[in-house]
Amino acid sequence: MSEMGIKFTHFAEFAWSMMEPEEGEYHFEWLDRAVSLAEKYGLKVIMCTPTPTPPVWLSKKYPDILIQRDNGVTIQHGRRQHASWSSDRYRHYVENIVSRLAIHYGNNPTVIGWQIDNEPGHYGVVDYSENAQAKFRIWLQKKYGTIDKLNDTWGASFWSETYQNFEQVRLPNQQEVPDKANPHAMLDLNRFMADELAGFVNMQADILRRHIHKDQWITTNLIPVFNPVDPVRIDHTDFLTYTRYLVTGHNQGIGSQGFRMGIPEDLGFSNDQFRNRVGKTFGVMELQPGQVNWGVYNPQPLPGAVRMWVYHVFAGGGKFVCNYRFRQPLKGSEQYHYGMIMTDGVTLSPGGEEYVRITQEMKKLRAAYDKKSRMPKQLASRRIGLLFDMNNYWEMEFQRQTDQWRTMPHIHKYYNLLKSFAAPVDVISEKEDFSDYPFLIAPAYQLLDNNLVKRWTEYVKNGGHLILTCRTGQKDRDAKLWEAPLAAPIHQLAGINSLYYDHLPHNLYGKIDFEGKEFAWNNWGDVLTPAAGTDVWAVYTDQFYKGAASVIHHKLGKGTVTYIGTDTDDGKLEKEVVRRVYTEAGVSTEDLPYGVVKEWRDGFYIALNYTSDIQEIVIPDEAEVLIGSARLEPAGVVVWKEKSDNKYK
Ligand code: GAL
Repeated sequence: MSEMGIKFTHFAEFAWSMMEPEEGEYHFEWLDRAVSLAEKYGLKVIMCTPTPTPPVWLSKKYPDILIQRDNGVTIQHGRRQHASWSSDRYRHYVENIVSRLAIHYGNNPTVIGWQIDNEPGHYGVVDYSENAQAKFRIWLQKKYGTIDKLNDTWGASFWSETYQNFEQVRLPNQQEVPDKANPHAMLDLNRFMADELAGFVNMQADILRRHIHKDQWITTNLIPVFNPVDPVRIDHTDFLTYTRYLVTGHNQGIGSQGFRMGIPEDLGFSNDQFRNRVGKTFGVMELQPGQVNWGVYNPQPLPGAVRMWVYHVFAGGGKFVCNYRFRQPLKGSEQYHYGMIMTDGVTLSPGGEEYVRITQEMKKLRAAYDKKSRMPKQLASRRIGLLFDMNNYWEMEFQRQTDQWRTMPHIHKYYNLLKSFAAPVDVISEKEDFSDYPFLIAPAYQLLDNNLVKRWTEYVKNGGHLILTCRTGQKDRDAKLWEAPLAAPIHQLAGINSLYYDHLPHNLYGKIDFEGKEFAWNNWGDVLTPAAGTDVWAVYTDQFYKGAASVIHHKLGKGTVTYIGTDTDDGKLEKEVVRRVYTEAGVSTEDLPYGVVKEWRDGFYIALNYTSDIQEIVIPDEAEVLIGSARLEPAGVVVWKEKSDNKYK
């Protein structure tokens, strides 16, 4: 590892049974040996808490620590992520092992930081154990105070769901109802699970903090946009990291070889989201080194793709990349999963060779690093905050209204078009200050309150450019429709007089006219009547509402609001509209093809090629090219510095 140029290694996230083979019997010698070997060769260690894998004696002695599926089956010992965050008993045992580990390694200078658990999230299984049921009732009681308040919020009188006391309430469960569960109960289930997960991570962070040296940091590794993970709720760690596998047969990528590279938003969106969470920095804890064993099918990554992904994290401001894994395992659950080292234990895999190359190249970048560099003015003028909230995701995924609605593809459509402008995007939550951004976009922001609308209004009046899209503001935070016209709270802000929505069958495309060009849609169409003083930018040109507005725009104070009511398959309409918002604000945009990524970080420009064709990157003549060249092969990387940036410092 050391010879390869690797700086740190990552230990023990599943090793509870080796640390505590019998209750109260602790063995750290084997781990001590590994840590001192790392130290001997100049490697730092990220130490992990082993809590995703309780030892068998614990599950056998206390089966009540296990999670239970919606069909009542208790998940047994034998894999991972099978213990319930809602079990006090489990938390007690977690507290014990984490404290012991922290006391043991909390002052070891080779250990630079801690990872809590591993991908907390139960891999998609919702926990219906009695512990979870009981904790849900406590959570509800705390939230609502009285059962009448819960009944009222859930609309429980509809179909006589009305409860008499909290004891009667259960987690909404598809197996326990003949049709769809109550939507408000579902939203509360998701919020509760996200709180349980966050509470579990925050609890471990607090335990570690009590014992470890202040120079050791604390993080966890999350699967991005994955139920019930809500990164906004995890705030006791120093920062967050994520894990991502791009080549798993789940998508075709871009062009004939795209399936060997993945899609750029998989890393880009996560970079831009995790960089803006607790600690305002991030790392990536797992990227694949080659073929994995668990995909739909498992292609070989394109030569160069492993390196390109690392550069993508670098470009997004990531502080480190940890690769999963070092050696390919010969036995156990991840046979066939590539490592940096092949099955013989000594030969570098192609991905391993790419890491060696990266560690060499990073030396060059480190030498050219200027910590005083500031984002060039032109880029700063394009900065945009993309407001994202898991509550909207939960609500809209449960009530899609049309089977063509997909929340993340809707949001990614906007993300990708902004990246094609080479706009720096920050994926932010309502905790952040909007005034930092010349542009702000809130795609399909379904749940809101008057306070958020007030913040948006102030933002615009002070000169911000706000972009809203379909479904925004239809409901309050409890997912209740307003006792007012649909989306009433945003009407004044967006210049809407009235609005309803339409969906089309899969094989029928409606038409829209924007600046004399025709666009096609069929997923979601908000049909708008503008208020006086609002400009109509695009109109529907067929269906019974022919002539009604699809996109409207108006000025408010020093800023503007644009409402894009239609969701199209190809996103072409959305792209042209957002470009016009930028152009009218006097801000330039680029026109990068989908799959060409261009980012700026700490004085470096980085361009990447996720497409299957050669791409020519425009690099000014006087620029200093540090890595690669302007002609980018598929999975190619080029890094340069622009002399003209100096004048903006
Ligand atoms: C991750 C997980 C790792 C390993 C890897 C295999 O999701 O965190 O422990 O299982 O997948 O690709």
